Amino acid sequence: MSVPSRPIRTAAVIPAAGRGVRLGPGTPKALRTLGGTPMLVHAVRAMAASRAVSLIVVVAPPDGATEVDHLLNEYPLADRTDLVVVPGGQTRQESVRLGLAALPDDIDVVLVHDAARPLVPVDTVDAVIAAVRDGAPAVVPALPLADTVKQVAPQPQGAPEPVVGTPERALLRAVQTPQGFSLETLRKAHDTVVEGEGATDDAGLVERLGAPVVVVPGHEEAFKVTRPLDLVLAEAVLARRRATDGYV
Ligand code: C5P
Repeated sequence: MSVPSRPIRTAAVIPAAGRGVRLGPGTPKALRTLGGTPMLVHAVRAMAASRAVSLIVVVAPPDGATEVDHLLNEYPLADRTDLVVVPGGQTRQESVRLGLAALPDDIDVVLVHDAARPLVPVDTVDAVIAAVRDGAPAVVPALPLADTVKQVAPQPQGAPEPVVGTPERALLRAVQTPQGFSLETLRKAHDTVVEGEGATDDAGLVERLGAPVVVVPGHEEAFKVTRPLDLVLAEAVLARRRATDGYV
């Protein structure tokens, strides 16, 4: 990243427009509570915990921006962080693109963070930002895998799936968020890569541009709340933090 003569400005985009069907029926996932506080509020606070982040853009469900705006107003942030809510789209990629469109041009570094990862520690957020500021155009936090991974030939539901390969586990990483980018790089990736080309994260779009992406250590508490068991784990982590760290 070319270093501007003014202070570097960092923003975070939080896509929160998903319905979270894998968690079961009910409220949109980001608005489900953890320890009595909406998951989205935890995610917003996790970004605001970094002193580098001066602006947060929350991408709400397409028809829910006003409701999300009212909700977030009940949980004010410290003065150093501005908050904007915009309506999202039908896919995560579209929601992130709409969030990027809301960023002012004086932003240099952008984080993209899933609302569904409410408990990422601030040290992980700061490590991602630092790596982008040090010149990497795209940075992802990631962890080694505990499970061995098989590639299969998918079959109709319930039928045994033939294994076609076993990638070497030591070379694989499970990728988390926040992912960090120079704003220029991520805007170019979203403008260039067409929806439906199979990228399931923002770094994947940057890879398709041919730009370098690097991995920094992730954190096990940055897990994504996807299935009902993840909610049990998240509640336990939150209860421990509240008991030991004065976390709210
Ligand atoms: O569905 P998944 O868990 O991969 O979603 C990751 C994040 O993307 C979630 O925070 C979800 O709210 C968000 N998302 C979005 N717009 C969509 C679909 C998902 O902002 N249309």
